[in-house]
Amino acid sequence: MAKITILGGGSWGIAIAALLHKNGHEITVWSALEAEVEMLREKHEHKMLPGVKLPEDMFFTADDKEAVEGRDLLVMAVASAYTRTTAHRLSSLVVQDQKILNVAKGIEEHTLMTLSEIIEQEIPQADVAVMSGPSHAEEVGRGIPTTIVVGARSKATAEYIQNLFMNEVFRVYISPDVLGMELGGSLKNVVALAAGIADGLGYGDNTKAALITRGIAEIARLGIAMGGKFETFCGLTGIGDLIVTCASMHSRNRRAGILIGQGKSYEEAMAEVQMVVEGVYSAKAAMELAEKYQIQMPIIEQVNKVLFEGTSAAQAVKELMLRDKKVEVLDIPWEN
Ligand SMILES: NC(=O)c1ccc[n+]([C@@H]2O[C@H](COP(=O)([O-])OP(=O)(O)OC[C@H]3O[C@@H](n4cnc5c(N)ncnc54)[C@H](O)[C@@H]3O)[C@@H](O)[C@H]2O)c1
Repeated sequence: MAKITILGGGSWGIAIAALLHKNGHEITVWSALEAEVEMLREKHEHKMLPGVKLPEDMFFTADDKEAVEGRDLLVMAVASAYTRTTAHRLSSLVVQDQKILNVAKGIEEHTLMTLSEIIEQEIPQADVAVMSGPSHAEEVGRGIPTTIVVGARSKATAEYIQNLFMNEVFRVYISPDVLGMELGGSLKNVVALAAGIADGLGYGDNTKAALITRGIAEIARLGIAMGGKFETFCGLTGIGDLIVTCASMHSRNRRAGILIGQGKSYEEAMAEVQMVVEGVYSAKAAMELAEKYQIQMPIIEQVNKVLFEGTSAAQAVKELMLRDKKVEVLDIPWEN
């Protein structure tokens, strides 16, 4: 049995808390939001994850020291906009080589850093790992079979975390390609916005399949230029997560995209979804990365134009369809 604290008590943090408790571990959930801690203490349930009842022996706290001291693993599940402030706040309490598993997805605007890079910068003494893959909290909370990947710099850390999480409904693979995993996990949110926009315009399955396939092509192009591995983008944290995010109504990015496709601004869409839509922030960061690494990312470029430059969704689709004529796969030679 390990002593584990989940930092951030949102839907993903709570689904993970329930899963790890079922695996026999001692679980504390910490949140910076006092109201969230109160709700969890009183109801043993999160309003964003109805139906997932939390056991009586799960502990909820807003106290930093209680959350961090003596814990074998800290699972960082705060929304990505708060990864840096949370890491900074808790840094002095983390001991040398204490393990931190980041399960959030995003790229920081302006610094263009991944979340594990942010945590390593704020808490250099920590042993940081990441977890990503097609895994909606609503389904993990209901015990629906799910597969996921844990990435870490050392195989021993990855295997340690794999053993904590793995059970008959939660299969965990491991990978050394932390960067590729994180890029796939955050950039797919931008393509999910595009998929939602296409749905909002009333387009069909052909358009969705096109966005998923060409979307992973551009994510992989950028990811490989930055040092990620091609195979990772073909795996659970790449195409796997992209498929689930573009197809599922559990995806807040897709739901926000649908509203934008129907003519709402991204601010109106976020207000209606009632959640932070991380793809909106990652869209800007992705565009900056595309420029920095000189990579063509036409879908992500059009999403940025719709979000921030007033281009209509229909016009953006037309621009994508009428781009320069291309060969699908560049590396296959012609015989004639
Ligand atoms: N929900 C899912 O199904 C799912 C699945 C896989 C990965 N993720 C990723 O996990 C992360 C968390 O997802 P979520 O759905 O639980 O998000 P969420 O929007 O519900 O927020 C998670 C938590 O962040 C914390 N938080 C919010 N505002 C804060 C603040 N001002 N200061 C400090 N902490 C604050 C709160 O504890 C909140 O519950 C995201 O990056 C998401 O992409 C989510």
